[in-house]
Amino acid sequence: MKIIGGTPLKGRIYAQGAKNAALPVMASAILLKGQKLTLNRVPNLLDVVTMADLIRSLGASVMFNDQVMEISTPSEISWETPPDLVRKMRASSLVLGPLLARCGKAIMPLPGGCSIGSRPIDLHLKGLTRMGASIELVHGAVHAEANGLKGCRIYLDFPSVGATENLMMAAVFAKGETVLENTAREPEIFNLVESLRSMGALIEADGTGVIKIQGVDSLQSASATIIPDRVEASTYILAGAATNGEVTVADIIPNHIDSLLAKLEEAGANLTVGETEVTIHPSGRLKAVSLKTLPYPGFPTDFQPQVMVALCLAEGTSIVQESVFQSRFLHVSELNKMGAKIDIQSNSAIINGVESLAGADVVATDLRAGAALVLAGLAAHDATCVHRLGHIFRGYERLEEKLRTIGANISILPEAEECKGSSLSQPS
Ligand code: EPZ
Repeated sequence: MKIIGGTPLKGRIYAQGAKNAALPVMASAILLKGQKLTLNRVPNLLDVVTMADLIRSLGASVMFNDQVMEISTPSEISWETPPDLVRKMRASSLVLGPLLARCGKAIMPLPGGCSIGSRPIDLHLKGLTRMGASIELVHGAVHAEANGLKGCRIYLDFPSVGATENLMMAAVFAKGETVLENTAREPEIFNLVESLRSMGALIEADGTGVIKIQGVDSLQSASATIIPDRVEASTYILAGAATNGEVTVADIIPNHIDSLLAKLEEAGANLTVGETEVTIHPSGRLKAVSLKTLPYPGFPTDFQPQVMVALCLAEGTSIVQESVFQSRFLHVSELNKMGAKIDIQSNSAIINGVESLAGADVVATDLRAGAALVLAGLAAHDATCVHRLGHIFRGYERLEEKLRTIGANISILPEAEECKGSSLSQPS
């Protein structure tokens, strides 16, 4: 992706459906037997296609066009997941709970780690074991069996999003009541709760980190709507911040990004917050601010690489502490290639603001790091080429098209082409 930056972006962008809500909700369709789950506002993303292929490989049929997805499951499905698909996407582990609940067994390769950390699923397996599943690791694959899961009280050592989702889905048919404590409280969790309720599950979730599930015998066909993608929305608001532009992101739920809006206001940004949209106005050079990523409602780790770009250009020194993932700073070396001044000390990044960034050839290492490099390219006053775009297309629908509508000079080149035209000499 070649970006000629330096132009303040201006215009309106409509948010996609949330990737991190669509994936668990799609997996929950496995709980249906001979019924259909219809989903609206499903984003057209590589990860969504991978999850659809995974569900199809188990025997379900998935129809998907123009944001509407219909998942129909036969009365019998396979409980063995294909290794190639599971290894492609960590969120594949979200089929484990539903498969165990519906089939009483599941075979699934352990999801690989990825560039932001080892990302184990020990909390998922510990909870399923407490519910009566027997779990063995055979050649790097989870072999799980349970002739009937039992409801029980499970305390999560960490409010893991995936563990909360997997255990909630596993509990839907369990005998008796399951009480999950210290659960994740991300908005995507409640999208899954609503969707499961519409299928007939009995779930109480009041947002306090406790979720109670009463086991039922079966679920029914239903339809649900995916919530707006708060991470995508934040990325485009930060595109406005990084280019001193005027960008409106519409069709969102503003209070899902309260932490980012508060930080941007603290940094001196001018924001207008409406019912379903947020506008960032030209704010001049932002002031340095510090933050620490935390489970929701704390500052989301998924916004961290992107907000770092705005802080690279702020006046003063910012400190960004990453407390959720082990190593979510791989974008830092690429940003420093563009003239940023970021120093990493254990899980904190010390950012000394600079006046401007310079274009360069940079490589995306993971989804949000890639998004951050695009933002840096939009801010830099010459040409930047971002390589390994597959990472970005996993989570951003029509990214270059949406950015063009707000004035970005952006094009997709065949990988072989080097990035010419950086007018400034590369910073040493
Ligand atoms: C979800 O991942 C999101 N993905 C991630 O978004 C997001 O960064 C993360 O939640 C935190 O908000 C989806 O929803 C598909 P976790 P998940 O379990 O569920 C450790 C993006 O860019 N952990 O809350 O995998 C884990 O290693 C992606 O869209 C264990 O140690 O996140 C990590 O350090 C990136 N053992 C921390 O907890 C476990 O059993 C948070 O993980 C589970 C997790």
